Amino acid sequence: MALLELHEVVALSGFGDVPKFDLAAIAFTILVGSVSFAGSLVTFAKLQELMTTRPVIFPGLPVAFGGSLLAAVGLSVLLVIEPSLWVGVVLALLGLGLGVLLVLPVGGADVPIVISLLNAFTGLTVAAGGYVLGNTLLLVAGTLVGAAGTLLTKLMATAMGRSLLNTLFGALKGGSTLGAGEASDRPVRSAGAEDVAILLGYASRVIVIPGYGLAVAQAQHTLRELVDVLGEKGISVEYAIHPVAGRMPGHMNVLLAEAQVPYEQLKEMDDINGEFKQTDVVLVVGANDVVNPAAKTTPGAPIYGMPILNADEARQIVFMKRSMRPGFAGIENELLFDPKTTLLFGDAKETMGKLLAAVKAM
Ligand code: TAP
Repeated sequence: MALLELHEVVALSGFGDVPKFDLAAIAFTILVGSVSFAGSLVTFAKLQELMTTRPVIFPGLPVAFGGSLLAAVGLSVLLVIEPSLWVGVVLALLGLGLGVLLVLPVGGADVPIVISLLNAFTGLTVAAGGYVLGNTLLLVAGTLVGAAGTLLTKLMATAMGRSLLNTLFGALKGGSTLGAGEASDRPVRSAGAEDVAILLGYASRVIVIPGYGLAVAQAQHTLRELVDVLGEKGISVEYAIHPVAGRMPGHMNVLLAEAQVPYEQLKEMDDINGEFKQTDVVLVVGANDVVNPAAKTTPGAPIYGMPILNADEARQIVFMKRSMRPGFAGIENELLFDPKTTLLFGDAKETMGKLLAAVKAM
């Protein structure tokens, strides 16, 4: 689209007549548009697991990135001073390379943040295109997308306790999240749905921590039913919502709203974190990183510094997950091996159904 715009402007007026500010906007559109396009293709490949989700780094990457960036800025200036179609084409190719180099070192849990950043970039590109074409609608829509994407990127990075620079370039000094990791073979305590139902039946206070796995399994309706049944038995149950549980902002709120969970039962992390000490059972459904104590205890862990839900402070913890594979950050969770922890293995929808039946039968 950027090249098409350039072509149209050139065809209509010839380079000599194009104001310098328009040429600068065109250079911006070409460069940032091609960075976003190539970057989005790489993030797509990472999320679809068509390539490794781990950071890809190689010797000379910082030099290649820095050099390409400088060359791109130089070419943009050249396009403004000495405009030619070929400078635009080379700038676009360089932008494509830059987009790939920008996203390759980003791994694991950081990928969605980069998607949000690229989304902001495309908004700004559309706004610049709107300016060049004199199209107010494009200008306003692009500015809104750019501003919203920038805010969202900032909010996501803050919620994960990381700066944007650390997200983008952390892997170069070993600080990025790693992506899919190995399943642990250390011994854990596991139980069946009936045992967990008894545990819940004796509790007077339960907190449910939903995560990405709940969404994957689509177990939210069965979970709500379970919470309703526990409520009828006089057990107090609330949901603790971590700001980055799932894979996008508000993921858990939307999921639970869809299952018609009453809004009053949803508690934000800061509001509920002090209450785990007085909680009998924490039911962690398809969540992992958001309760991983490594975020507090292990400097150098990819999620170190990310605020977490204090599930470790409860009297009993039950994890519902399929295996011993780690969460999105790709690191082991010590809480799985805690003597207070019980694992209920299986797809969350299936095990939740069994748990509901067992609780009803009590
Ligand atoms: P994760 O740490 O990714 O853990 C999800 C767990 O669900 C895994 O341990 C997985 O274990 C389990 N699971 C997957 N499918 C399941 C199924 N069908 N049934 C039962 N369990 C299943 O999720 P989380 O705790 O929600 O944390 C979110 C992560 O995403 C964080 O690292 C966060 O930083 C990152 N992130 C979030 C966002 C936003 S804005 N939400 C943005 C970027 C990154 P098994 O494979 O063993 O089943």
